[in-house]
Amino acid sequence: MIIVVGGQKGGSGKTTIATNIATMRVMENRNVLLYDIDPQRTATLWVSRRREDQSLPGISIGREVLDKRTVNVGIVIINQLQALQSKYQEIVVDVGGANNQILRAALSLADLAIFPMIPSGFDMWTIETLSKLVAGAQRCKESFNAKVLLNKVNTNPVTAKKQIEECDDFLSDFDNLTRFDNFLSERIAVQRASNEGMATIEYKPTDLKATEEIKSVYKEVLNA
Ligand SMILES: Nc1ncnc2c1ncn2[C@@H]1O[C@H](COP(=O)(O)OP(=O)(O)OP(=O)(O)O)[C@@H](O)[C@H]1O
Ligand SMILES: [Mg+2]
Repeated sequence: MIIVVGGQKGGSGKTTIATNIATMRVMENRNVLLYDIDPQRTATLWVSRRREDQSLPGISIGREVLDKRTVNVGIVIINQLQALQSKYQEIVVDVGGANNQILRAALSLADLAIFPMIPSGFDMWTIETLSKLVAGAQRCKESFNAKVLLNKVNTNPVTAKKQIEECDDFLSDFDNLTRFDNFLSERIAVQRASNEGMATIEYKPTDLKATEEIKSVYKEVLNA
């Protein structure tokens, strides 16, 4: 199974969500590859940081080096993913933003796409482009599924409710894109865990709310 975590906007939580999902799968003894195709290499750096703590379960990381001189980046990605597919039960792909060619290629082989999104206008303006990419991916694979995952939702329930309603309003115009019912709030433990090469559920002291949220998201992702 290939899970692509992507989207156009920077800083929406793609790497955070990819690393958390990959780790939680590994904790269930799945043979997982975290595949980093973002030139910023954040997921790769996260794994390096993680290796400093031998007590944490190891996460396999794959990386595709794509620079501006690479011709046909889409084909490179497709070939790589196809070659890796038989070696792992799951591949969680962290696709950087900005390059739609790379995202389109990854989506063409994906079973599921997660588009993290901060509930703000700027992020939601990208929904139209994402919807077109989803339509393209559905032509490649009928069973392909894609969902928006709201991230960094305000911890104030009244503000959160408004943010979610606004997002649902945007999404209602697109019939091939819905959102996960569960979402992640903006919580310092999520950020601190990432900085230390950990998943949120590994971070001490445990943030119960953050842990509960990521567990719910994880469950929903696996059932999507
Ligand atoms: N739910 C959250 N609560 C608090 N901080 C968060 C949360 N999600 C992500 N962050 C923080 O926000 C920043 C951006 O997140 P992340 O790097 O995962 O985004 P990204 O989409 O991968 O960014 P880029 O487009 O640069 O690759 C990081 O510092 C991360 O720790
Ligand atoms: Mg990233």
